Amino acid sequence: MRKIAVFASGRGSNFEAVLKGIKSGKIAAEIVCVISDHARPPVFDIARKNRIPTHWVNRKQFSDAADYVGFLLNLLASYEVDLILLAGYLKLIPAPVVERFRYSIINIHPALLPNFGGKGFYGERVHRAVIESGVKVTGVTIHFVDEHYDRGAVIVQEQVPVLEGDTPETLAPRVLTVEHRLLPEVVGAYCAGRINVINGKVVWEK
Ligand code: GRF
Repeated sequence: MRKIAVFASGRGSNFEAVLKGIKSGKIAAEIVCVISDHARPPVFDIARKNRIPTHWVNRKQFSDAADYVGFLLNLLASYEVDLILLAGYLKLIPAPVVERFRYSIINIHPALLPNFGGKGFYGERVHRAVIESGVKVTGVTIHFVDEHYDRGAVIVQEQVPVLEGDTPETLAPRVLTVEHRLLPEVVGAYCAGRINVINGKVVWEK
């Protein structure tokens, strides 16, 4: 049984979608903790209702980067975490944590990377940039995390059409609906050992 740590900064709807997948038996895993850079994000309320431990961990709480990294690695080790899910987490994962969990950290992004990603591209800003650019298709990307924002081997992408007259408010929920279906599918496949990385590229086992 895989042990998952979810990192999230806000609402937590993707965390909830994965939790639902676990409860329904579609994902062979357990979410052992939720970690946030914010003190009281809404995602913590969902976690607490489900008796999942929450931890507020922010770089600013530590005098230096090594302490911060050491704390994070110890925390993850204490839960025997073997998969980290970034579900609306706004901070960069420190390089030593990426190194320790290479190809075991998964992020979800509400656009088709490598476009509309990187530092500062989160939430409504992503959808606004998509609409302003005039592209006709956006979507969802789920990928392994490397040392950079919104980079790393792509696991899956799905398109969502941008409709005439779309605003960030009308586009965001259509993208989110896809996220809520796709993320539990990916986590389920990962936990079943059906997602492999060969020469830096993701290969799905049929
Ligand atoms: C999602 O759109 C996800 O793609 C992005 O942040 C948002 C998080 O939403 N990384 P939620 O907190 O899961 O509701």
